This record gives sequence, structure tokens and C-alpha cells, in this order.
Amino acid sequence: MDPTTTANRVAWETASQKHISEYDEILADAAAGRSLLPVERELLADVLRTGPTVVHPQSGHGLDDVALVQAGARQVIGVDYSQIAVGAAQRRADELGVACRYLVGKVPGLPLPDDCADLVYTGKGALIWMADLHAWAADMARLLRPGGHLFLYEGHPAVPLWSWDEDRARIREDRTYFGGTFVNDTFPANGAVEWQHTLGDIVTTIVGAGLEIRHLAEYPEPFWRPGDLRAAAWNGRLPNAFSLLARLTR
Ligand SMILES: C[S@@+](CC[C@H](N)C(=O)[O-])C[C@H]1O[C@@H](n2cnc3c(N)ncnc32)[C@H](O)[C@@H]1O
Repeated sequence: MDPTTTANRVAWETASQKHISEYDEILADAAAGRSLLPVERELLADVLRTGPTVVHPQSGHGLDDVALVQAGARQVIGVDYSQIAVGAAQRRADELGVACRYLVGKVPGLPLPDDCADLVYTGKGALIWMADLHAWAADMARLLRPGGHLFLYEGHPAVPLWSWDEDRARIREDRTYFGGTFVNDTFPANGAVEWQHTLGDIVTTIVGAGLEIRHLAEYPEPFWRPGDLRAAAWNGRLPNAFSLLARLTR
């Protein structure tokens, strides 16, 4: 693992302690199955009707995995490089009796065979940790069976630009849309380094990996709001999230 990825992993192990300290709250949220947004349910309805095997790279707390099984997935395999996140997610899935299995592994380079997934579900803070978008897309395509789907519900690449001022939305002086990389100062912080990929880069890289885009949409609501913060950047005028559904053409 390169030094930046190793340092990011340490930052995530520290932040993932939250999965243990807030275990009961997260378990209750998982049981309620609310984490899968209405727009995600709508976009994935046809795929979920077929009882897919789902792979969730960077599965984190695993709330979406429980919701995916409740919504029709046959099984979900979550992979994350945080041992703490993987352990807590597996414990919750076992307590709830849902078909979710978790593995410790790095993305790209997931410890899973080719053609093992009908659906690769990822996002909600995943792509910003990928230094090499081409390697990421190739790994996602490798996992998919012919005709399988890749689904992303992700923070919009413009999000790092928005300040969290409550009076009015401002563009941060220390950021650009084309910045490439910057030090994360929100969550997990601790010096973690994020990568910025423009929406153009993301779409072109996914198409280049052999997938056909079936849906792409941008949304004003962020997928994550820390605490009670009410940033003006979230008042409906700026892009804060996007969804993408693509199908492997082979
Ligand atoms: C913002 S969290 C989002 C996770 C998940 N989508 C969710 O909603 O809980 C990002 C997750 O990616 C994991 N992660 C970051 N970089 C990774 C990498 N290169 N390989 C594997 N996991 C990674 C972190 O450990 C963390 O659990």
C-alpha cells in the first residue's frame, strides 16, 4: 500500500471507532432499513427484483447493505479496509439475521473473483478515497457478471468547494474544482488526503471500463449532514450529490 493510502487507512480506523461507540444506534438504524434513499430504491427497483448478488466496495457502517437485502438482494458482500468497520458491520448483520458478509480488503484490488456480482453498489463518500480512478473502474467492471450493473450515489465532485457558512453559500478560497487532491478537514479528518475527480472524469472513466451509462442525475441535497449544521450551500441552489447507473456491455 502506498504511504498516502496507508495514512488514510489509519485515519479511517480511528474514525471507525464510531461504529463501536455508537453500535446500538447504528444497529437500530440498520434494522429500520432507512439508509437507502427513495431515489436509490427507484433507480435500483428493476435490478433488486431479480434478487441480485451485490458487492459493496467501501461498505463502511453497512447500513445500506441491510437495506439492500430487505429490498430484495439475495446477498451483499461488503468490503472495506477498516477492520473495525468490517467487524462491527458483520456483528450487526449477524444480529439482524441478514445475508451480508464482510471482508477486509483494499479498493482497487478487492479480494473477490471476477464475475461475482450482479450489482456493484458504492458511493456516499467512496470515490474521494480513490487515487487512481481508472484502476477503480477496471476493478468494478471485473467484479460484474455480463450485463451486471454498477450503481453510485455519491457526493458531487463540486462539494469540496462549498463553505459550510449558514448565512450564505461561499466558495472556499483554498479549493478549486480541478484541484486533484486536498487534505480532508471534516470527516474522518486526521490529515486524510482526498482526491477530486470531476464529473467528466468519472463518466468517461466508467465508459472506458466497458460500461454503458443508463442514468446520471445531480441533486441539491447532500448525502451526509454533520450534526445540526444548516449550511446555506444545502439550500437547493447548488449540486451536492449525484447518482449514476451503468451496465456492463459484455
Ligand atoms: C465515507 S465512508 C462511506 C462508506 C459507506 N458508503 C457508508 O455509507 O458507510 C468511506 C469508507 O471507505 C473506506 N475506504 C476508504 N478508502 C478505501 C480503500 N482504498 N479501500 C477500502 N476501503 C476504503 C473507509 O474505511 C470508510 O469505511
